[in-house]
Formats: sequence, structure tokens, C-alpha cells
Amino acid sequence: MAKKEMKIVYDEYQSVCQLSASDRNLAEAAIRATENAYTPYSHFNVGAAARLSDGTVVTGSNQENMAFPSGLCAERTALFYAGAHYPDLAIEAIAIAACRDGKLCPVPATPCGACRQVMAEYQDRGGKPMEILMVGAEKVWKFYRVDDLLPLIFDSLK
Ligand code: THU
Repeated sequence: MAKKEMKIVYDEYQSVCQLSASDRNLAEAAIRATENAYTPYSHFNVGAAARLSDGTVVTGSNQENMAFPSGLCAERTALFYAGAHYPDLAIEAIAIAACRDGKLCPVPATPCGACRQVMAEYQDRGGKPMEILMVGAEKVWKFYRVDDLLPLIFDSLK
């Protein structure tokens, strides 16, 4: 028996102002995207913005439904849009932000398991690491690859 250890390294910033220009642009697009969320049930507005390999930024927001499971998270809305419209471009980074009562949450919102699984597949498809920015009003976290959010990613069908 051998004890194994996994290490995750990520960056913590105090605000979006400390990010590089392109990351800041992506973070701000995610914040703006929260305004298009449709959340009559949770009132929790999530925005996501994905940066593609040619610099294009696409956004998504959570879209709820009275039949709850029919709704979709912001991240998957953005990722599926990118996959549907730009199938040949890698998704290099995704930023996520969440607002309550019109205010950016202080602590970053973290993506749900299903969104992490979808990120994993698009990362694999793009052939390069996908960075993830989780944007809060008091903290911003930057992860460098989906593997760090979803260790031991399911890829047995490969
Ligand atoms: N939500 C997202 O948009 N992204 C996540 O990663 C987690 C949760 C949405 C789904 C639902 O509309 C609301 O937040 C409350 O769960």
C-alpha cells in the first residue's frame, strides 16, 4: 500500500482589479451576465463568461424553470453555447460570478459537480488546460485546470 497525495495550487486575489487585463475583462463579463439570469425560484443570479482560443468571449447565465431539473446553470449555458457556435475553438478560460439582491456575492460562487464534469470534457476536447476564475466581491480565485476542481475525472470511455 502506498499513500498518495494530490495537491491543488490556485491564486487568490483581493479584487478583479489585480487580474491581468484579459482575465479582468472575462470576470467583468461574467458579472454583467448575472443581469440576464432568469431566477424566479432561487433569486440567485449566476453569470459565466468563456474565453475562446481566438479571444472571443461568450456568456451565459442560469435559466430556471418551474420544473426545477429543466433549468440550467450559468456555466453550462455558456459552455454549450460555445460548443454549439464555435465547435473548432478551444475554451481557454471560464469566469463565474454570482449576485444576490443585485450585489456580487462577497465569497466566490463555486461551480456545481455537473458543470465541472462538462468543463472537463470541453477542456479535453480543446486539448489545453481551461482556467477557471471564481469571482467574488472580496476574493477572486484562479484555478489553472479543470483537473484541480475535479480530480480523477471520469474519462474511461476514451
Ligand atoms: N447555479 C449555477 O448557475 N451554477 C452553479 O454552478 C451552481 C448553481 C444556479 C442553479 C440555480 O439556478 C441557482 O444557481 C441555485 O442553485
